[in-house]
Amino acid sequence: MNISTYIKKAKEDKSAIGHFNISNIEMFNAVVSAVREMQVPVFIGVSEGERNYIGLNQVVSLVQSVKNEGLPIFLNADHTYSFEAVKSAVDAGFDTVIFDGAGLPIEENIEITKKCVDYAHDREVLVEGELGYIGKSSKMLDEVPDGIEMTSVGDALYYVKETGVDFLAPAVGNIHGMLKGANNPGLDIERIKSIKEAVGIPLVLHGGSGTSDEDFRSAIDAGIDIIHVSTEMRVAYRKALEETLLENPDDLAPYRLGAQSLLAVQDVVMRRMKLFNNI
Ligand code: G3H
Ligand code: ZN
Repeated sequence: MNISTYIKKAKEDKSAIGHFNISNIEMFNAVVSAVREMQVPVFIGVSEGERNYIGLNQVVSLVQSVKNEGLPIFLNADHTYSFEAVKSAVDAGFDTVIFDGAGLPIEENIEITKKCVDYAHDREVLVEGELGYIGKSSKMLDEVPDGIEMTSVGDALYYVKETGVDFLAPAVGNIHGMLKGANNPGLDIERIKSIKEAVGIPLVLHGGSGTSDEDFRSAIDAGIDIIHVSTEMRVAYRKALEETLLENPDDLAPYRLGAQSLLAVQDVVMRRMKLFNNI
């Protein structure tokens, strides 16, 4: 089955496909173990920073190695800010790429997105485009990021028609990162419904961390097909690492120091997978 077939099936099952960001081998193995256990499709996402750290070709090889086992894992070049970086990811063998031109004026966003779509489609790679502003970092936040801007139905329709993107990531009340000591703002479910009705292509919800279970379920019913989660995994990773370091002040073996982080990240991924897939 390819990505489009999995998305179609998820829709029929009233599910969404989880997209989990990784930065290192512990996080990669955490997602893979979760997929082995639950047998549901996922995206592994790497932002520009994450893939520069792991290595572009290295992350492609890692994902290929588990695809060879028959696991339904796809590799996404998350938040990519230039045509050149999109091209590198496509050439390296990613399954999907996101051109993130959300910070640009819409006409410039359209122009570069189109160029990415032409290049990627010629090589059978799918492209996601972004509209609106939801903040930039997967981190703990003191307050809602400045300049949040929701996506209008009109812009969404215009952008999708002009660019031919395969997926759209709209701003619908979601934010990147998690608020310290407070819930993230709620999602605008009616806006998701209206955008979905207008554009008719798969919608991607970024900034999944800190979203309530109820909002996730309503968002999936309203038309969200793919959900990104990162900050919750990073928090779990770091907390487990800090505890391990405190408990084992003399241990030097990275594979032992990272073991609890792997399990903690796997737990987050499995909990989110269960919710997204109605398990
Ligand atoms: O692209 C990455 C995601 O949108 C992650 O957002 O860190 O708020 O879960 P999050
Ligand atoms: Zn994102």
